[in-house]
Amino acid sequence: METMTTPGAAEAADTLDVARIRADFPIFDRHGDKPLHYLDSAASAQRPIQVLAVMDEYYETTHANVHRGVYGLAERATAQYEDARVAIGRFVGAPDPTHEIIFTKNATESLNLVANSFARGLLSPGDKVVLTKMEHHANLVPWLMVKEQLGIEIEYIDHNPDGYLELDELDAKLDGAKLISLTLCSNVLGTLNPVKEIAERAHAAGVLVAADGAQYVPHIATDVQDLGIDLLAFTGHKMLGPTGIGVLWAKAELLERMPPFLGGGEMILDVRLDGYTPNELPHKFEAGTPPIAEAIGLAAAAKYLSALGMDRVRAHEIALTEYSFKRFEEVFGHDMVVHGPKNPLDRGGVLSFAYRNVHPHDVSQVLDQFGVCVRAGHHCAKPLMRTLGVAATARASLYIYNDESDVEGLIEAIVATKSFFG
Ligand code: ALA
Repeated sequence: METMTTPGAAEAADTLDVARIRADFPIFDRHGDKPLHYLDSAASAQRPIQVLAVMDEYYETTHANVHRGVYGLAERATAQYEDARVAIGRFVGAPDPTHEIIFTKNATESLNLVANSFARGLLSPGDKVVLTKMEHHANLVPWLMVKEQLGIEIEYIDHNPDGYLELDELDAKLDGAKLISLTLCSNVLGTLNPVKEIAERAHAAGVLVAADGAQYVPHIATDVQDLGIDLLAFTGHKMLGPTGIGVLWAKAELLERMPPFLGGGEMILDVRLDGYTPNELPHKFEAGTPPIAEAIGLAAAAKYLSALGMDRVRAHEIALTEYSFKRFEEVFGHDMVVHGPKNPLDRGGVLSFAYRNVHPHDVSQVLDQFGVCVRAGHHCAKPLMRTLGVAATARASLYIYNDESDVEGLIEAIVATKSFFG
């Protein structure tokens, strides 16, 4: 069992100590002879030993099913699981974490929970839901399924060529809507949407606000009360936690009105042959054995990020984004186009790019030979790809363990693509 240590940069005054942070992540030691330039944290981040150790310890000393057994081991497992719920709630500023944090499988399941529950209880045929054209499929397809099933209307907010939402049309689109569901940070453009302003305008029109925080919560201090939203979905594996766990936060009074999504054990108070009575919050939304070790690991990840300081995490990513833009311009000029806002303050650490006319998959494969991991593809945002006029992009994404050497590694590898593709 590893002893818990303070995360790498805890003593640094203003900036992250990336070398010390990297020492917490075993994957950087075990990758082979080449340095690993891991630039795909928007797809999935790596895990520090502090998260792995907590999960190992739980499995080695405490595991039993939760909320079921009345023996000591089960009670300790339940206590750890419920403590994790509170820790995750505090990480996003939930006013009532005990009741308002629902553990799911991933952000996709959280968003499906919202769409399905709204469809079953809070929407009627003809009702309007507003989305943006920069949504990940996880915040798009569930609503298209509701449209198919119930006959709702979906309106989309456009964005301009620089990747900013066209808010002139917002009030007209909100008029008569029941809900707006939008991303806090685009996984392709990196755009940080002005969700606080949008929430104010939505609430003035009587419209609820759901936010996809998958690319935001891991990178920026999040306070659901300050954002003024009603629901927030995010995932564990993009914020140093395990795979297999996602989170839905929503206001308790809204969750009370929402019918359950998945049915089964634990989400009921009573079951008869002709019906059921749902359990109390949050259990009404957690059917079956939940992700227990994953919740405990996710709480450890939140603790690690909090010890670094989310403001410093954000400052680090802004500085690295600025550095990337400067170096791309110096080395590639017009040969490299980065999609989305040009101002690093308006974007998260996601850099989707086109390099000359080289296909993004070819870029990604050549980069792999240099130990540089970037994602290539449509990034689960096909409608957005169409508005960009491309089938795919290459995407480098930055996190706490990246520094200028990773950006230089990326640049060196892209330069090398010239010898492959002419
Ligand atoms: N949603 C993740 C991404 O954008 C997988 O890469």
